[in-house]
Amino acid sequence: MASFYLPVALILLGQACASQYPLVETETSSIPTVDEVVKSKSLQSRIHVDSLLERAKTLYSIAELGEEEYNHPTRVIGSKGHLGTLDYIYSTIAQLGDYYTLSNQSFPAVVGNVFESHLVLGSQVPASAIPMSLTPPTKDKEPVFGPLALVSNFGCSTSDYPDLSEKVALISRGDCPFGTKSALAGRAGAIAAVIYNNEKGALGGTLGTPSPDHVATFSISDIDAAPYIRKLKDGEQVDTSAYIDAIVESIETTNIIAQTKEGDPDNCVMLGGHSDSVAEGPGINDDGSGSLTLLEVATQLVNYRVTNCVRFAWWAGEEEGLLGSDYYVSVLSPEENLKIRLFMDYDMLASPNFAYQVYNATNALNPVGSEELRDLYTDFYTSHGLNFTYIPFDGRSDYDAFIKHGIPGGGIATGAEGVKTEKERELFGGVAGDWFDPCYHQFCDTVANLNLTAWELNTKLVAHTVATYARSLEEFPKRKSIKTADVSGGLPSKYHGPKLQL
Ligand SMILES: *[C@@H]1O[C@H](CO)[C@@H](O)[C@H](O)[C@H]1NC(C)=O
Ligand SMILES: *[C@@H]1O[C@H](CO)[C@@H](O)[C@H](O)[C@H]1NC(C)=O
Ligand SMILES: *[C@@H]1O[C@H](CO)[C@@H](O)[C@H](O)[C@H]1NC(C)=O
Ligand SMILES: *[C@@H]1O[C@H](CO)[C@@H](O)[C@H](O)[C@H]1NC(C)=O
Ligand SMILES: [Zn+2]
Repeated sequence: MASFYLPVALILLGQACASQYPLVETETSSIPTVDEVVKSKSLQSRIHVDSLLERAKTLYSIAELGEEEYNHPTRVIGSKGHLGTLDYIYSTIAQLGDYYTLSNQSFPAVVGNVFESHLVLGSQVPASAIPMSLTPPTKDKEPVFGPLALVSNFGCSTSDYPDLSEKVALISRGDCPFGTKSALAGRAGAIAAVIYNNEKGALGGTLGTPSPDHVATFSISDIDAAPYIRKLKDGEQVDTSAYIDAIVESIETTNIIAQTKEGDPDNCVMLGGHSDSVAEGPGINDDGSGSLTLLEVATQLVNYRVTNCVRFAWWAGEEEGLLGSDYYVSVLSPEENLKIRLFMDYDMLASPNFAYQVYNATNALNPVGSEELRDLYTDFYTSHGLNFTYIPFDGRSDYDAFIKHGIPGGGIATGAEGVKTEKERELFGGVAGDWFDPCYHQFCDTVANLNLTAWELNTKLVAHTVATYARSLEEFPKRKSIKTADVSGGLPSKYHGPKLQL
């Protein structure tokens, strides 16, 4: 994941309303009884940080398998680190005997890797220039040279583009996805494209689904672009040199799904985390934390009976744009879709400078039931005397396909590259002015990058949600439709996955 942190509200202790799912249950014994229908307190009592930490150490050693190819530990799709992760998840569940039906779902995925790049405008190297994710290389993976040419408006229609043969397009961000601009530039004959931010600051993003029309594309900040826009408008020439050595290739990767054999198969509680990391690092918090939480809860659940089916998913290709979860939902028949009563997303549960964040998933904008789930999370934090914040439910993680296909969704997180505010420091401790996860998408997302207090507490919360819904969905809104009203008014969203696309 994950989130671009604009905490949209700060909910203080004691302000949330009471849940229909009481946390305190009648059970008194903390020693769980096998062969009883699962109860929250009992399942939670089996969650210990020591086993989570052991799993994190194992996962890091698996990420080291990626070193040979990437020169550092990684679990990016296609790497040995990711294949090892899949084996670890699969074999852990397989060892639990016949409690679960375990399956692999393979699907095609696109991966990109930029090996080298440079951009020179006039005689200067713009400091903010970076290649966009999934960019193709420049021709023959060699530098190309040509004058810079300004594209009109937002560069979202063919008529915005002059003849760009042997030229480099300079295009504003805005109105349509980066991938559309790159393809239109390519069709107009451009040898490369530079997209500049129309808001303040640096820009980075992805071209999304590859197109044969895409050209090598960089992004730069508003400030870096300004002098060149002025020159071009004054009729001056800006000689440009662009170079990207990159590959974009198709591979197969795999989602792993484990479903309880017991429990009503027509009423499933589903939860997921992503098994992959970015290429830049081992991804122990993102999303080792979420995927290991699922593994631990799945392991402990086998001690109980369930009323409703519970389905765990470990998605692949999340970092490339939610590929695994998109694929999974896209191939569900309407009948299968309607069997999923809700989907819970667990992406980054142990950020070192954490906040307890709950997706603000409401029934007004999302499938009905999303808000009941949201309130189950907030009631848990409140009943533990903890603060939480609401964060936008804006398409940056694997819940997106579910809510777009009528399935109620939600989840919790602890923060990515957002900056902790002074107010949030008061609520959660930690360091104001730093990122929630200073190692987000980097080399240093190792075992040392986990806050174990937050991780254990959040894993107990995941256990609480699983136990609550596995036990009963009677109070939970029934599924009605496999469609969701399009709340965006048909406009593409800024995010579909962790990377900006518009
Ligand atoms: C949550 O989202 C709803 C829209 O669905 C919005 O009205 C509300 O203000 C949001 N709440 C917070 C705390 O941001
Ligand atoms: C499923 O994938 C896992 C992980 O790659 C692998 O170990 C296992 O053998 C596969 N199982 C089947 C039935 O293909
Ligand atoms: C919750 O936030 C308040 C400040 O609004 C703070 O005084 C309190 O200590 C926080 N509680 C916890 C458990 O951190
Ligand atoms: C995790 O967070 C807790 C609560 O803020 C803090 O007391 C603890 O020192 C942190 N642990 C680590 C390893 O950062
Ligand atoms: Zn993630």
